[in-house]
Amino acid sequence: MHLSKMALSLGQSATLRLNELANTLKAEGKPVIHLGGGEPEEKIPEGAYSASLKKLESRCIRYTATSGVPDLKAGIAAYTEKHYGVKPAAGNIVVSSGAKQAIYNFLLSVVDQDDEVVFPAPYWVSYPEMVRMAGGEPVILRPEAGSVVPTLAQFEAAFNQHTKAVMLNSPNNPSGAVFSADFIKGLVELCERRGVWLMMDDIYNRLVFDGQKAPSAFDFSKKPLDESMIVSINGVSKTFSMTGFRIGWSVAQATLTKAMVKVQAQITSCPSALSQAAAVGALTEGGDFVEKLRKGLQKKRDVMVAELAKLKKAKLHRPQGTFYSFPDLSAYDKDSTRLSNTLLEKAMVVTVPGVEFGLEGHLRLSYCGAEKDIVEGVSRIRKVLD
Ligand SMILES: Cc1ncc(COP(=O)(O)O)c(C=O)c1O
Repeated sequence: MHLSKMALSLGQSATLRLNELANTLKAEGKPVIHLGGGEPEEKIPEGAYSASLKKLESRCIRYTATSGVPDLKAGIAAYTEKHYGVKPAAGNIVVSSGAKQAIYNFLLSVVDQDDEVVFPAPYWVSYPEMVRMAGGEPVILRPEAGSVVPTLAQFEAAFNQHTKAVMLNSPNNPSGAVFSADFIKGLVELCERRGVWLMMDDIYNRLVFDGQKAPSAFDFSKKPLDESMIVSINGVSKTFSMTGFRIGWSVAQATLTKAMVKVQAQITSCPSALSQAAAVGALTEGGDFVEKLRKGLQKKRDVMVAELAKLKKAKLHRPQGTFYSFPDLSAYDKDSTRLSNTLLEKAMVVTVPGVEFGLEGHLRLSYCGAEKDIVEGVSRIRKVLD
């Protein structure tokens, strides 16, 4: 059997594999606690529900324009203006099948063979493979020991004539860290000075705690959108608890957007018409769905942090956003895969090894599930480790 070199070189997504494992164990009746998940447990917004039903009742679910339906693009433009202070035109937006596809559209549109794409560790598990699939070389910046964010000087030092793009996810999956305004400002200036694309993965951007806001790259650029090097990736998966609808989008200058539309046209034609209708319903709903979700997650973050603090040798960076915590547990075991396997075997708790995010010695523990699972899960971990 002949498989492509690319297919053979691809690693399996650790998080999706662990999701499947947790589901299988649950189905077998094992008392497993899943702290490895990546989606809120909340039901979808009412607006998304009624808009999907209405679309379904029309019995007319067809291809749409490749870059998305006008209603959704208008909703995204208004949403972007409200939360990021930039009003994109329809020609600056591509709606895609999840934020993941928006990132692919971007990479396939800007990366040539062997171009370098720079991003910090810990990173979202998919970034390195996505860059490689686009033919590029991931350049990973590791933070100093004891920190989960690299410095601006590291970015500057990593740039060379092959650097095509930077990818930054703030707040960050898996650390929950929010990059500071000074950092984002410096990075925007650096990318603009060097003519390097800056892809901001804003998928958790509204899930920030303690009265803070995640600084937006657009705040620090004087360039009009159509001349900007900034590409913002967003979607309804996390903020609106709509992971299964697979709707994400990009906001970028028109020239890049046109290229991304061509890429998407040859891959999926368009995102699902039914899901787009649901996303319109979510974005145009007047209620406080996101705020309720955010507040609930902040409470669960506090529970997770309090429970982890009871571990004798854990070093914790207090998450400022998302629904992940990323404690340094290297004092128990430096090998995060072995530690994660031990916890699954002995405590029946699913966690994700830090090495999958490019930072050994850590585990990612999610707090998007039920509060009682957080308490019980970490207490089981304590019994095994302390
Ligand atoms: C940092 C980050 N970016 C992008 C995505 C992809 O989002 P979507 O489910 O909309 O494709 C995820 C999902 O886990 C993520 O954590």
